[in-house]
Amino acid sequence: MDMPAIVLIGAQWGDEGKGKVTDVLGGQVGYVVRYQGGNNAGHTVITPDGEKYALHLLPSGVLTPGCTPVIGNGVVIDPKVLIAEIDGLAERGVSCDRLLISADAHLIMPHHRALDRVVERYLGSARIGTTGRGIGPAYGDKVARVGIRVQDLLDPGILHKKLEMVLREKNQVLAKVYNRKAIDVRAVVEEYLGYAERLRPYIADTRLILARALENGETVLLEGAQATLLDVDHGTYPFVTSSNPTAGGACVGSGIPPTRISQVIGVIKAYTTRVGAGPFPTELFDDNGAHLAKVGVEFGTTTGRPRRCGWFDAVVGRYAVRVNGITDLVVTKLDVLSGLAKVPICVGYEVDGQRVDEMPMTQTAFHHAAPVYEELEGWSEDIAKARSFSDLPLNAQRYVLRIEELCGARVSVVGVGPGREENVLRYPLL
Ligand code: IMP
Repeated sequence: MDMPAIVLIGAQWGDEGKGKVTDVLGGQVGYVVRYQGGNNAGHTVITPDGEKYALHLLPSGVLTPGCTPVIGNGVVIDPKVLIAEIDGLAERGVSCDRLLISADAHLIMPHHRALDRVVERYLGSARIGTTGRGIGPAYGDKVARVGIRVQDLLDPGILHKKLEMVLREKNQVLAKVYNRKAIDVRAVVEEYLGYAERLRPYIADTRLILARALENGETVLLEGAQATLLDVDHGTYPFVTSSNPTAGGACVGSGIPPTRISQVIGVIKAYTTRVGAGPFPTELFDDNGAHLAKVGVEFGTTTGRPRRCGWFDAVVGRYAVRVNGITDLVVTKLDVLSGLAKVPICVGYEVDGQRVDEMPMTQTAFHHAAPVYEELEGWSEDIAKARSFSDLPLNAQRYVLRIEELCGARVSVVGVGPGREENVLRYPLL
């Protein structure tokens, strides 16, 4: 029987805790595919034996016995980082033998990292606040058709030729515009051919393998990195990442057709956080914000930067449900709100004196959006032990139900603590 593919995405600005879903799905998934982004992502997975792993590039499936992790064509790969991640896991006894890397994925090259940092510096106060990993420049080159792909590692002649061509321009830019050192073609080719030897066993036609897997009745989980509002098309452009984390990106970034996708799981934090620059209507600068940052331990997994914190924004939630076709919401970190007297939810915005209920059409309007809040009563109980919905204090139940109503998708799971078992299950995810 043909099996469906399931997409897992972040519904806000990232760091919603997508690892929770991987925990809930456990061993029920045969393949976990990353379809976009690169080592700008970061998620922490805690395995059943209590081991904690911070992954940046590898799909979380690498930690699930019997699961095949796949890096799809839509990902940009920094091979040095990938190899370090593979070696780091091997040291801890985790094998990456099953890992598959798409031959069509693009590589992050030294000039991408150099340009990411120097361009940000030149942008000054207009900077995006990127992770500095070369993500944007790598995707830029992909679209400009001067990118270098994983398969080029298998052909030293081509690798040299392509790099020489692209560095002819980039070195001019680095040296003449940004006053940086030019990059040596030979040294980079040599470095990358070393990576080629290490990565060769994993390189595959992942598009074909995934099609066969679905035909054979395997369940495929397409795991998004970053999130809806960081999508280069649907997010708060230009304060976005350079790929498509939304559900549509899962098809493009893996080669799995849209007709195969039967379910989209949206992970949404019980409040809102954002790293990097850009508009954020419900951002808090008071004690409540400090509470969320402290209790929620809101520091970036990849860069360690403190995250900006604010109340739950149902306009954003509703937008994410619409753009991704979310069938199930997973509300994470509800426990972080315990102890607050009031838990406001943003239900709309006021933009230049006008009330709006949906995401404004223009970025200028979104910059002017002031949140309109509905104040819900808080709860003080510790909810970490709740496993069924009725275990939650009534006010916490009301909060979740209001999120469900305002966003327009059922809440299937509620995270009540960092541990993998610390979830309230309302509806089965598979
Ligand atoms: P880039 O992806 O490094 O180009 O950064 C672009 C924007 O996306 C910046 O605001 C980053 O902080 C943000 N970003 C990138 N990856 C993540 C993530 O995994 N979580 C949250 N924000 C991210």
